[in-house]
Amino acid sequence: MEGKGTSFVLHVTLLCLTIYFGSHAQILDGPKDLTVLTGSNASFLCTVARDWASITWTVNNLFVVSISPTAGSMSDTDIIVRNSTNQVNLAFTSEITILSVDRTRSGKVQCSLLFYGFQEATLTVQVNGSLEITNGSITIRPNIPVYLSCRFLNWFPVPEITWRINETTANQLSYTTDYVYGNDQMVNGASLLNITAEYKTTVTCLAKIETLVSPQSTSVDVTVSDNISGSLDQTTIIIIAVCVSVGCLLIIIIIVVTVVCCSKKKKRDTSYQSDAWKVSSIKSDYLQTSQNGRAGENNLSYTPEPSSRISYANSDNSVIFAVAPMRHTLEQAPEYRRPATNPTTVRHITHV
Ligand SMILES: *[C@@H]1O[C@H](CO)[C@@H](O)[C@H](O)[C@H]1NC(C)=O
Ligand SMILES: *[C@@H]1O[C@H](CO)[C@@H](O)[C@H](O)[C@H]1NC(C)=O
Ligand SMILES: *[C@@H]1O[C@H](CO)[C@@H](O)[C@H](O)[C@H]1NC(C)=O
Ligand SMILES: *[C@@H]1O[C@H](CO)[C@@H](O)[C@H](O)[C@H]1NC(C)=O
Ligand SMILES: *[C@@H]1O[C@H](CO)[C@@H](O)[C@H](O)[C@H]1NC(C)=O
Ligand SMILES: *[C@@H]1O[C@H](CO)[C@@H](O)[C@H](O)[C@H]1NC(C)=O
Ligand SMILES: *[C@@H]1O[C@H](CO)[C@@H](O)[C@H](O)[C@H]1NC(C)=O
Repeated sequence: MEGKGTSFVLHVTLLCLTIYFGSHAQILDGPKDLTVLTGSNASFLCTVARDWASITWTVNNLFVVSISPTAGSMSDTDIIVRNSTNQVNLAFTSEITILSVDRTRSGKVQCSLLFYGFQEATLTVQVNGSLEITNGSITIRPNIPVYLSCRFLNWFPVPEITWRINETTANQLSYTTDYVYGNDQMVNGASLLNITAEYKTTVTCLAKIETLVSPQSTSVDVTVSDNISGSLDQTTIIIIAVCVSVGCLLIIIIIVVTVVCCSKKKKRDTSYQSDAWKVSSIKSDYLQTSQNGRAGENNLSYTPEPSSRISYANSDNSVIFAVAPMRHTLEQAPEYRRPATNPTTVRHITHV
């Protein structure tokens, strides 16, 4: 009977040991938190004790791969799975590498062991955005403070902005930095540096995030001059612009007024001219019929050239009339419509 009892205890112990060792599957070492820059590869390890049944990886709650001791099944082509087995304790290590990560990969990476729970890590993807001193290389007046603006777009997380003036780090009190989160959770902002310079100076704006080995930077040259010829003062530009536009307007008005006046004048002139032509043709008819001995009166025929202010001379060189100021002649022009059979009428009219 004793032997039977001993063998039972041994059996139970053996069974327990078998269960304990045989199925003591567990995650010995789970994935670790990782922060990387976009475009990098992100690798996670998960080491399990021997006698495991199945390892499942998820990234942001999305199934990536399931691995059994005999095979693996992939669902994501941007992820590489590798494995290694420790030859001493037979621990199995599965590694996933997410290739060229972007912001959408940020989140939880989970290694689950079937029936035995999971371990997870956080993947943080940082973004190296753009950086620019928007003023460009400028010329400023000596010893007058100006502001230079350094714009940063599409960063994650908020970059630490610093300034360098001639290779010397600028005083923190000389600049202020503001930023906002965009819809895509990216950070956009600008830093304003208050700078006074006496001589030509190189100004550098730097943006640092954890994953950038060296900060991203951008520089401009600030030239100092009493004469700022190339870049005019803004008020000067405004004044010049206003003067030029007012001048242009005046010129246009003058041109329009001149054109209108001229065309009106021309209209009157042509009507006057046609009237006058009538007169002169009638007159020449008259003269032709009464030519003998009355040639002297020929000079009385009014030459209706309105622009001529020449005096018309009689054959005996005595001035008979001078063309009066245009207005008067024009006002009286209709008088010419009457058939000027009597030259005295003409004389009377032109003697204004
Ligand atoms: C990411 O891994 C792939 C495949 O191993 C390799 O070709 C590529 O150069 C790696 N990229 C970086 C940024 O290390
Ligand atoms: C481990 O990797 C080797 C070589 O890449 C492969 O042949 C084997 O199937 C992998 N084992 C598992 C369980 O994925
Ligand atoms: C960060 O972005 C800048 C500007 O696009 C680029 O010049 C630099 O190489 C980038 N750095 C890394 C580490 O990708
Ligand atoms: C530089 O640009 C910023 C923003 O565009 C502006 O506020 C600042 O006045 C500019 N500085 C100079 C010297 O033009
Ligand atoms: C800018 O700097 C000058 C000289 O360093 C200082 O007098 C001025 O108050 C500063 N302006 C602001 C807004 O801090
Ligand atoms: C920057 O360096 C130049 C010469 O390299 C020097 O003339 C200038 O004074 C320096 N500017 C400042 C603000 O120290
Ligand atoms: C500034 O302008 C004056 C007159 O136009 C000129 O004589 C002088 O050389 C200029 N100075 C500089 C530094 O350009």
